[in-house]
Amino acid sequence: MKMTNSWNRFIYRLWAPVYDAILASLFLPGRKQAMACLELRPGERVLMVGVGTGADLMLLPAGVQAVGIDFSPEMLRRAQAKLPLPDLEVTLIEGDAQRLQVEESTFDAVIFNLILSVIPDAGACLRENLRALKSGGRAVVFDKFRPEDGKLGAGRRFINLFSTIFGTDITRRFGDIASGAACEVLANEPAILQGMYRVILLRKR
Ligand SMILES: C[S@@+](CC[C@H](N)C(=O)[O-])C[C@H]1O[C@@H](n2cnc3c(N)ncnc32)[C@H](O)[C@@H]1O
Repeated sequence: MKMTNSWNRFIYRLWAPVYDAILASLFLPGRKQAMACLELRPGERVLMVGVGTGADLMLLPAGVQAVGIDFSPEMLRRAQAKLPLPDLEVTLIEGDAQRLQVEESTFDAVIFNLILSVIPDAGACLRENLRALKSGGRAVVFDKFRPEDGKLGAGRRFINLFSTIFGTDITRRFGDIASGAACEVLANEPAILQGMYRVILLRKR
């Protein structure tokens, strides 16, 4: 099944009430790894693409300003319920992250956690939101990707029939998504589940 905005809106409405309870502890080590990699400093502005229930909000260091975008009102409501957080200025926007929703070149950092495997056009999502970065700004991706040299086998394709129903695609390659994006890869490290999930640090050219 191909990911679509209408399916994502439906499936993440169902996920919203149980997302944190089911997935928080599984993803926490990867989130911490991604946040450490980004090295946010007080006073910096960070864009959180597909912010969801805001599971990363509590990991932000004090003194940063965050803007979170998501397509699902129900996921955003969960994020809103976590606010306010001490020493953080957070704005949440409902919108489609395949188009830039904020002013160009105004952010120091972008977080793409668990969004590039979900959003219908991951390449557009990456390219558009990198436009939000100031030149030399950095971005982090925490997500699962098909190995760059791996063929798309029948097994993965079969499992993907079910994973897409639950709102995630396991057949995407980061190299395909990033081709043509104005960024360089500074690091690509294994994260949770024996490296199936990666933490990738990017810098805008
Ligand atoms: C797997 S969740 C990840 C949420 C969060 N980033 C996290 O790390 O927990 C994927 C999120 O992407 C959002 N999403 C899907 N399509 C989107 C789109 N076109 N624009 C913005 N957000 C989208 C969903 O609503 C959902 O909240």
